[in-house]
Parts: sequence; C-alpha cells; structure tokens
Amino acid sequence: MNDRAFQQCIDPDCAATYALDEVLFSCRKCGALLDARYDWDRCEVPKSLSFFAERWSTVGRGPKAIADYSGVWRFRELLPFADVNRIVSIGEGRTTLQQADLLAKNIGMKPGHLFLEYEGFNPSGSFKDNGMTAAFTVARMLGRRRVACASTGNTSASMAMFASASSPAELPPTQAIVFIGSGKIAYGKLSQALDHGATTLQVAGDFDACMHRVAELTDRMGIYLMNSVNPFRLEGQKTIMYRVLQGLDWEVPDWIVVPGGNLGNSSAFGKAFAELHQLGLIDRIPRVAIINATGAPTLYQLYEEQGVRWNSGRYNKQQVDEHYGQLDAKEWKAVTIASAIEIGRPVNLSKALRTLEVTDGLVRHVDDAYILENKALVGRYGYACEPASAASVAGVRVLLEEGIISPDDRVACILTGHGLKDPDATVGYHTGMNTKAVKWPEPSPPTGKMANQPIPVADDIDEICRVLDAGP
Ligand code: F0G
Repeated sequence: MNDRAFQQCIDPDCAATYALDEVLFSCRKCGALLDARYDWDRCEVPKSLSFFAERWSTVGRGPKAIADYSGVWRFRELLPFADVNRIVSIGEGRTTLQQADLLAKNIGMKPGHLFLEYEGFNPSGSFKDNGMTAAFTVARMLGRRRVACASTGNTSASMAMFASASSPAELPPTQAIVFIGSGKIAYGKLSQALDHGATTLQVAGDFDACMHRVAELTDRMGIYLMNSVNPFRLEGQKTIMYRVLQGLDWEVPDWIVVPGGNLGNSSAFGKAFAELHQLGLIDRIPRVAIINATGAPTLYQLYEEQGVRWNSGRYNKQQVDEHYGQLDAKEWKAVTIASAIEIGRPVNLSKALRTLEVTDGLVRHVDDAYILENKALVGRYGYACEPASAASVAGVRVLLEEGIISPDDRVACILTGHGLKDPDATVGYHTGMNTKAVKWPEPSPPTGKMANQPIPVADDIDEICRVLDAGP
C-alpha cells in the first residue's frame, strides 16, 4: 500500500475519503460511488506523454519488464496505487489504434480521420482485461483469493482468465464466481468462464438482477467484487485512452465514440482526460459520444430526453429513481442482440454523467438491425468485432447524418470485444439462421444489406467453376 493514493466519494457534498486498503464499493456515508484519487504532488508524473512510448517494445522476465510489456502498467505513473513489483499481469492492453481508411470512405469520412481502438486483441478478447489487471493487483495487495462478478459475458471471461492464470502454484487457485443471467450470454464468453474453471451461477433473471445479487453476496461473504463499481477496474480502463492518444502521436482526437452498457468505460475515459488535463499533459479534452442499444437506452433517456445533468455532482437523483420506478412498474427489461450492453440500470450512471459534463459529451442509441449492419461493415474492412462494439461505428454514422460529427473530424471508435465472442450473431446475420435460443429480429432469408450467404454447390469442379464465373 502507499500513502499517495486513497479512495474518495464522488459526491462533492460528501467527498468522504477512505484508505486504499478499505474494501468498499460505495461511500459508507452517502452511498455514492468511489474514485481512486492521488496526491499528484507526491507522485512521479512525467512531463510529457511521449515518455511512455519508450516502454512499448520491452520484453523480459523481471517485474519492471512485465509491467513495461503490459499496455496498462507501462502507464503506471498515471495509476499510482500499485507497487510495480506486485502487479498481476497476463500481457493485457497491447492493443493499437488502427487507421480505418476503407471503412472511413464507406461511411463518408475522410481518409486518415477514422480510427478503431481494437480491444479484441486483449488476452481474453475484450477491453475488460485492462480493468481486471488493476483489480486483481488490488486483490493481491489485500490478500483476497475469492472474487466474483455479475456479467453479460466479457467481465466473467476476463475475471476467470485472470483468476486461473495468476494463481501462485503453492496456493489453491483463486476462486472466480460468476453470475450470468439465464440465456443472456454469448457462447464464446460462456465457454471462457467454464474453461478457466469459474464457478458459474446461471441466475433466473437478467444482468440487472445478477448485479444486485452479486453485490449482496460479496458483502455478506467478504468476497472481492470485480464489477466496474470497483474503482480500481476503472483505473486500468483509463489506459485505453492513453493508447488512443499514443496512436495519434499524443494528439487529442475530436471524438471518442464508445458503446455504453454498465458505463464503466465511459466513466474511466472521462476520468482519464480530466486527470491528463489537470496534470498539463493534454491541452484540450475530446468529446465523448456514448452509444446505447435502442433496446437498452437508459442513459439516452435520462440524459437526452429528460435532461438529467451531472451538475457538478448535484445531479437529480430523485428523477433517476423515478425513472427506474416507472421501468419497474412496466416490468421493463433491456433486450438487444448486443447482449454485452443489454443493461437497464447501469451501475456507473453517475460517473458517466460526470464524463458527459467533463467532455461536453452526448448520447445516442442505435437499433439491432443497424448494429448488425455496422458489425458486418467493420468485418468487411478488416476488423472482427462483436455486436456491442459495432454500436460505436453505428453511432458515428448517426452523428455524421446529424451533422454533429464532420467528415474531417478525427474520431476514435472503441471496438470493445472480438468478433469470435459471439459467432451466432454473425452467422445469424449472414445466413438468416437463428443459431441460438436468444431471439433477435430474425431475417430468413437474410435481409441485412451486408449479408454474405454461403453458396451451396455440388461436389463437382465444373459446377464450382461455373458458380465462381457467374460471380456474386
Ligand atoms: N462492449 C463489450 C464487448 C462489453 O462486454 C461491454 C460490457 C460493453 C461494451 C459496455 O461497457 O459496461 O463499460 O459500458 N460488458 C459487461 C460484462 C457489462 O459483463 O461483460 P461498459
């Protein structure tokens, strides 16, 4: 533990502080979320961001080399709660910003202006590894050997992988306990949790119900909670933005476009930029656009339709509670093909509102058909992503049409998870087959603009040539 980092309630009227080693996921006094905070004057912050670039190529065995190799810990001066000798790392965050000129051309942006931060490259195939390395590092500092999360799939895959890969040989393995909603998880993700040995509880309810139960469980049994209410998870996820900046030679883009589910990423990104600005490491802050699925539009409804604002921390909690009360009364549940973001009551809502204020951000929603079309478009131009990730590109197109994003803005979309996480969604889109129990608008035959059906052909070379000559 160190004395330059602490935890603090995000409500400015409370602002209670807690030591780094207090295990809390909300403020004991007022119930608001907590931030990891630093006494920056006592930290060794480099004078310029380019300092971090030199570590990129390090490979080796010592703790410093392992930290340098990680796309999270090579930025360790900006998340100074951890002891570099005791970090838990599995090579996470070695992702790069991809310049997507073909995709840009197709959606009406200028070449050199659209970028994809491809987080599918992470060891478990999603951005979650950025946060998990940080939370597991804290679990190690605290000596916690049982961890739990509720998940739409990727958090559980990442947590299960870290638990199994980081258990020391001389001790029994860290137990990973996963709560998933019944029928609500893509099989690629479920297969990861099962393969890595997680105790997997399939709760008869949706993600929001799982989130509620896991919070009760961890509190009652002293298990360490790995969801994004854990402030250290979000510290790790800040580094996604550092890598976007690095991909642009440390120039700040105009827009960051990110899918919004539980709103952990959105929260982490706002904090990352606020801190960099405060430290004088960037001179302006990009705008953040958060994209909901139309079937899970809570942030959109509250922010865009009802005008709820962070208001320097004094946001209208009563209005939020009333909104949730109305959803409950209607027995409304989130439903979308983008199962990763099928969340009706995002736990980081307040922090996301703060991000929207800090970044002059906005929120849009995109429907399932448009998500799948854009997923196929991203795939056609080289990047396999899962449905939730494609909401970011779909969101850019909506904002281009509205004239809010201009074709020569510099835009970075976060592709949060790998395409192989949810092959059923992909095969369903291209063929019209419903390959899993979960329902989505099922085209049969496929109706999507980008559908690419397999062609049935006889086992006969003449016919194969004839079909290929006939062309698609
Ligand atoms: N994209 C993917 C691929 C995700 O898995 C998630 C969240 C999001 C976007 C939304 O990110 O919650 O930070 O707004 N998945 C969580 C899970 C909820 O359990 O795996 P967020």
